[in-house]
Amino acid sequence: MKMLEVQDLNVWFGSGRDRVDAVKHATFDVAQGESFGLVGESGSGKSTILRAITGLAPDWSGTIKVEGQAIGHKRPKTFFKTVQMVFQDPYASLHPRHSVDQVLGETLQLHGFRDIDARVVRLLDDVGLGQKFRFRYPHQLSGGQRQRVAIARALAPEPDLLLLDEPTSALDVSVQAEILNLLADLRTEHRLTYVMVSHDLSVVGHMCDRLAVMKDGEIVEVLGVDALRHKNAEHPYSRHLLEASV
Ligand SMILES: Nc1ncnc2c1ncn2[C@@H]1O[C@H](COP(=O)(O)OP(=O)(O)O)[C@@H](O)[C@H]1O
Ligand SMILES: [Mg+2]
Repeated sequence: MKMLEVQDLNVWFGSGRDRVDAVKHATFDVAQGESFGLVGESGSGKSTILRAITGLAPDWSGTIKVEGQAIGHKRPKTFFKTVQMVFQDPYASLHPRHSVDQVLGETLQLHGFRDIDARVVRLLDDVGLGQKFRFRYPHQLSGGQRQRVAIARALAPEPDLLLLDEPTSALDVSVQAEILNLLADLRTEHRLTYVMVSHDLSVVGHMCDRLAVMKDGEIVEVLGVDALRHKNAEHPYSRHLLEASV
């Protein structure tokens, strides 16, 4: 089954002369359980694709289907029981005056869970933090620990599809691999499907089964991981990206 189908997606900001066409005619699909990468240089429209899927980019046309169902411009609350997003910057994505317990507890409550205590404890275990972090505040956490909390918050509604927007690029190099390993483990344990944005081909090559190469708002090519390993691309721009990577 297809977890995600994106057909002829266009996303724009502003209007008239100020209009920016951030994504143009993007088409791709992601199978259930697959890990799919979006790569391309800064400004190529990668984040905008994720934001359109999750309802954070209001102006779009085309078709977005999740688990076979076309989604409209308004996302019902139940949508977020299926689709969750992890943002690039764990410093900006956590409220400074909310403890870890509040962040996770409130998310669980919002999604109608009752056994909040047990679930908070389990989520902290799932992301490798453990209970001693439960009553801490963001300023008492490192970047990697914050990103683990953001990942726990995304897992709280028990989603099927995680949209990951450069989840390690704001972190120290030394903790990037830890978070990538955690994400790889969580995908198996929770049977998740990933769409992961990265400007780093080695990250995508390590984490993803297939990837779309973006340039100036368009998907120029979709490659399998074998093609990536053998630097086997058709489009000159993807070849250029592959050759530039180590
Ligand atoms: N909120 C916004 N308002 C206006 N333009 C935006 C907005 N968000 C993104 N853009 C523009 O859309 C294009 C794609 O941006 P983005 O999706 O963030 O690229 P990427 O994630 O690949 O770096 C860029 O030209 C960017 O300036
Ligand atoms: Mg981006």
